[in-house]
Amino acid sequence: MTNFSLFQGDICRLPVDAIVNAANNSLLGGGGVDGAIHRAAGPELLNYCRTLNGCDTGDAKISPGYLLRAQYVIHTVGPIWRGGAEGEAALLASCYKRSLEIACQYQLKTLAFPAISCGVYGYPNAAATKLAIAALFDSLSSKQNTLEQIVLVAFSDQMAAYWQAGLGAQKLNWSHYKCL
Ligand code: APR
Repeated sequence: MTNFSLFQGDICRLPVDAIVNAANNSLLGGGGVDGAIHRAAGPELLNYCRTLNGCDTGDAKISPGYLLRAQYVIHTVGPIWRGGAEGEAALLASCYKRSLEIACQYQLKTLAFPAISCGVYGYPNAAATKLAIAALFDSLSSKQNTLEQIVLVAFSDQMAAYWQAGLGAQKLNWSHYKCL
């Protein structure tokens, strides 16, 4: 049974098997959580990402975590919100599913997600978090699931409230702890 946790704070601090990065198609770093992860992981992360030849929106690729506490970083590229009629929902769901798929291929047990596309990419946060949890829930029922814990990371009280609402809708057993 995969448990869900809600963590409020910097995803780079989490001692999990892998953290997910909300990257861009180049995989060569940026601002937001992408910038934070590259800063915390150190310059070797960028050197490694250069060998990945980018990533399509909705897809995901894995790298070592280097100086991070997490062993791996799973880089995924969320959709830019353009009003909802350009396949954004399917692409965002795919980010979560592909990241989970890769985590299971690597037999990982713990995985942390930021709120993909909920910052610079402008996806409406309530819809994005609800969709994310439904996509994860849908994937977890597969036989290949190795995950014991999924941590949903909020960088604000508002985002924590959105994650909580999404978890509540799925009636998932979850624990909520806040980074002090
Ligand atoms: N830890 C956890 N969450 C964080 C952190 C952090 N250190 N920093 C930011 N966040 C949160 C934001 O508050 C937001 O809720 O991550 C969520 C995603 O926001 P962005 O990082 O802006 O990612 P996204 O909206 O997917 O846009 C991706 O931004 O940084 C660039 O290179 C990136 O071009 C890409 C785009």
